[in-house]
Amino acid sequence: MQDRIAAVTGAAGGMGRAIVARLLADGLRVAGLDLDGAKLDAMAKEQGDRFLPCPVDLTKPDQVTQAFERIDSACGGLDVLVNNAGTCFMSDFPDIPAEEFDSQMQVNFYSAFHCCQAAVPRMLHREGVKKIVNISSNGAYNFDVFDPPHYRASKAAMDNLTKDLARRYARHKIAVNSIAPAMTETPLFGVLTQEVLDRAIAQMPHGRAMQPEEIAAWVSFLVSPAGDISSGNVLILNQGRDVR
Ligand SMILES: NC(=O)c1ccc[n+]([C@@H]2O[C@H](COP(=O)([O-])OP(=O)(O)OC[C@H]3O[C@@H](n4cnc5c(N)ncnc54)[C@H](O)[C@@H]3O)[C@@H](O)[C@H]2O)c1
Repeated sequence: MQDRIAAVTGAAGGMGRAIVARLLADGLRVAGLDLDGAKLDAMAKEQGDRFLPCPVDLTKPDQVTQAFERIDSACGGLDVLVNNAGTCFMSDFPDIPAEEFDSQMQVNFYSAFHCCQAAVPRMLHREGVKKIVNISSNGAYNFDVFDPPHYRASKAAMDNLTKDLARRYARHKIAVNSIAPAMTETPLFGVLTQEVLDRAIAQMPHGRAMQPEEIAAWVSFLVSPAGDISSGNVLILNQGRDVR
């Protein structure tokens, strides 16, 4: 049987590292795409030759094209794409500079859009059910917590793309889902003041932030054969915080 190949964006970040480790443990070969080439190289030393480091600025469409060509030549195909790269800019409405709004959409949404454009044609020729997992956010759905509107909008756009592609490619056996986590302990917590962070964690029903490995386990489930029959869904992971 052919190796299954996954591309994980934001691979060097908190969630990305956990997703890479989990998919490698599941037996996939994994290409890690990230701005931070030094961290990717360090991961390659730890993970061995089933991990392919791909330094790239995902906000640059030509660099996205080149990264997927590199995956083609190194791995010979693509079965799984995890769009995980992202950040949260914290200026608040109405005082959001135009450049920050552009960057927010570019990092969180355009990058995922361009990666899907590169990935889907490559997946069409692969066997079995191919998977796209978009890492969205609870911020697109919960208006009680701190998230600024340009961050929410970038993730809402991503979830709309999830549904479009799920419908468009259902008969081609490409399953597309979003995972929308709440507070997960990663370096991204650094964008918050201690006060905002403490309040947000106190709102989590289990009294603690979620861990990146817990999100990676859900990515693993969707990527596994058990996930074949789910497409077009947004899975909210938040310990039940927002159930009304
Ligand atoms: N941590 C949370 O509580 C939380 C909650 C909901 C959603 N999310 C989402 O999870 C995803 C992962 O976030 P994280 O918490 O691991 O953050 P993180 O900051 O640890 O990791 C983000 C990674 O994305 C990379 N990246 C950023 N811009 C890039 C670009 N232009 N090109 C290539 N790589 C780029 C960074 O270098 C970094 O390694 C993000 O999409 C984030 O919005 C996080």
